[in-house]
Amino acid sequence: MPSLKDAKLRRNIDVSTVRYVINDKYDNIGKGKSYYIFTYGCQGNEADSEVMAGILESIGYTKSTDPMNSDLVLLNTCAIRENAEQRIWGVLGQLKGRKREHPDMLVGICGCMPQEENATKKIIESYDVDIIFGTHNRHHLPELIAKAYESKAKVVEVLSNEGLILEDAPKIRESKHKAWVNIMFGCDEFCTYCIVPYTRGRERSRSKEDIINEVKDLVKKGYKEVTLLGQNVNAYGKDLGEDYTFGDLLYDLDKTGIERIRYTTSHPRDLDEKTMLAMRDCKSVMPHLHLPVQSGDNDILKIMNRKYTYEGYMEKINRLKELVPDISITTDIIVGFPNETEEQFQNTLKLVREVGFEGAFTFIYSPREGTPAAKMKDDVSEEEKHDRLNRLIELTNQGYLKGHERFVGKVVEVLVDDVSKNGEGMMCGYSKHLKLTHFKSDDKSLIGKIVKVKVTEAKTWFMIGDLVED
Ligand code: 5AD
Ligand code: SF4
Repeated sequence: MPSLKDAKLRRNIDVSTVRYVINDKYDNIGKGKSYYIFTYGCQGNEADSEVMAGILESIGYTKSTDPMNSDLVLLNTCAIRENAEQRIWGVLGQLKGRKREHPDMLVGICGCMPQEENATKKIIESYDVDIIFGTHNRHHLPELIAKAYESKAKVVEVLSNEGLILEDAPKIRESKHKAWVNIMFGCDEFCTYCIVPYTRGRERSRSKEDIINEVKDLVKKGYKEVTLLGQNVNAYGKDLGEDYTFGDLLYDLDKTGIERIRYTTSHPRDLDEKTMLAMRDCKSVMPHLHLPVQSGDNDILKIMNRKYTYEGYMEKINRLKELVPDISITTDIIVGFPNETEEQFQNTLKLVREVGFEGAFTFIYSPREGTPAAKMKDDVSEEEKHDRLNRLIELTNQGYLKGHERFVGKVVEVLVDDVSKNGEGMMCGYSKHLKLTHFKSDDKSLIGKIVKVKVTEAKTWFMIGDLVED
């Protein structure tokens, strides 16, 4: 069983890089069989699912579009809030019925939930699942599947291998022009509300050579954009003991020829001058920053263990705006942290106004078993929490709209993703500032290209414009 307590102690965790080798022993396990992966949660999970798809296809499986008619279904789960887990129980319930009709179907559950002791117990005891594996075990997937075919018993591998860095695993990327690139794994921040440091293990960085080579390879394959991933990318390199930081990595990646670099997620305490300078200097680093603030109240920030203050956060924002004047800033905010008062909530609203966020993911605090905050008494009623969330959303929605309005009449560069669902004859993509932009065109050959669009209209969730010739 995984133990959250042990995870917190970070005992005996060595970082080791495992280079994935395809073992011909498992070559044909998936021949003639199909797979479907449900992915929940963050971009880290999306990147992990691409690796699992790569591993599955390397042993013969083919991708299916219908989960209920697949030979293997994997649920890549998220544990960050309770409602994320509720959804998984629902899907497992549906699959139960399907498995009764198709006893050969294998169901696997992986990602963050199996790293929680109680969730794993519940899965083992109450659900018809064949394979249960954690975030640190996905390179053993062929072996786990082989075992599951051999035995009728549940195959469980959730042991923490928290120092693992997996390299050279095959990947099936969802997009042909945008790619996730993990630069580090795990988190050592231990914000008091958050389960991630327990489920994802200690903070560990990939070598800069492996990252740079991956991006160079993507450039060769025609990719236009990479998003660098980590729970706290600003801590990149700290564990490597070299004098090479996230800012250095941005400068180096800028030289690879990739057109667009984005990154997520940042921690306000670790966001440093060099990174901000790289945002100013590197043409490929996009003028958008997602900088989760969580709260605007200093006492709450302290109890959350965020290690910065309202004033410290604003100092970084003001410096960024000085260096990259048209930058777009988005954030994450939690309302209803245990015992948050109306006055403390008002401080959050004040900060939202002062920064001028152009987008925010807003959450009601959700107690996660095993985290320090879950033990705190809480005197904020559910009704009050919802009311605060609604007031916050009203304000942040104005920010979204203003963020789009400022581009009306201007020409923006859009990396075209797909045909738009926003009406016949429209296509869509994202501008440099990460604004979803729809424009009139039915030319599918534009997908994966960067085009110029003159913005004519701003809505809360997107902008509309016309293609302009170069
Ligand atoms: N309750 C509510 N929101 C949470 N987050 C993380 N843990 C919790 C929790 N227990 C939010 C934070 C984080 C984002 C990914 O999820 O805002 O930045
Ligand atoms: Fe969770 Fe804090 Fe780590 Fe983000 S920085 S993953 S909120 S512990």
